[in-house]
Amino acid sequence: MVLTWIFAHRGFSLAYPENTMKAFIEAERAGADGIELDVQMSKDGQLVVIHDEKLDRTTGEKGFVKDLSASELMRLDARYKFKQTLVKKEPVPLLRDVLEWLSNTSLQCNIELKNGTFPYHGMEDKVIDLIRELKLEEKIILSSFNHYSIVHVNRHAPDIETAPILAEGIYMPWVYAKSILASGFHPHYRYAHDEIIKKSCQHHIAVRPYTVNNESEIQRLIKADCSAIITDDPAKAKRINDDI
Ligand code: G3P
Ligand code: CA
Repeated sequence: MVLTWIFAHRGFSLAYPENTMKAFIEAERAGADGIELDVQMSKDGQLVVIHDEKLDRTTGEKGFVKDLSASELMRLDARYKFKQTLVKKEPVPLLRDVLEWLSNTSLQCNIELKNGTFPYHGMEDKVIDLIRELKLEEKIILSSFNHYSIVHVNRHAPDIETAPILAEGIYMPWVYAKSILASGFHPHYRYAHDEIIKKSCQHHIAVRPYTVNNESEIQRLIKADCSAIITDDPAKAKRINDDI
């Protein structure tokens, strides 16, 4: 039986504001094995942790991430729907700050390169350089819906794990992952059928389905021997994992 890791999607985002230090700290406290986070680039070329290209949903501000400097982004409040329950402001974090914190934990980290809508020229190399500077190669998986980014990372940093994200079901995804030199793939959980997980395991390709919050689906994916699951609720997933 494979040990399935629990990755907290955007941190413990069910209970805390997504992609904030609070959500990452609470994910660790809940027993997650890793965190997933989203990276974009600020106007002045800094790596920032935020999911949407637009600011409104998570900060209540108008405009785009790419049009603000890192210091302007860090002054925003990413608490959004948790404003009533959390007293303290939660800034949009820099990737550097999250990774420096993570380097003192036992957590793994799945960094999603959010470069589908805007190209963010040079983002892959900046992320690779930061991982190298902090010596975090062993703890990081780089993923993206933009598979050109995965190919770029595999060519320039073959020692760092990568995984294309698949929004749709594709034929023999483990073959596709191998063909672009990725060591795994991240399918939407609805397309992570047991047979696909089994075949991928046989070919030493990791399967980490997202974003699975439903109890019976979490159970199914763990029993099917997924390498990891990506969930908004790491506390629930950990409890289920421990009971299996
Ligand atoms: O990495 C899986 C998942 O995070 C991709 O979807 O939109 O939540 O970033 P999204
Ligand atoms: Ca993501």
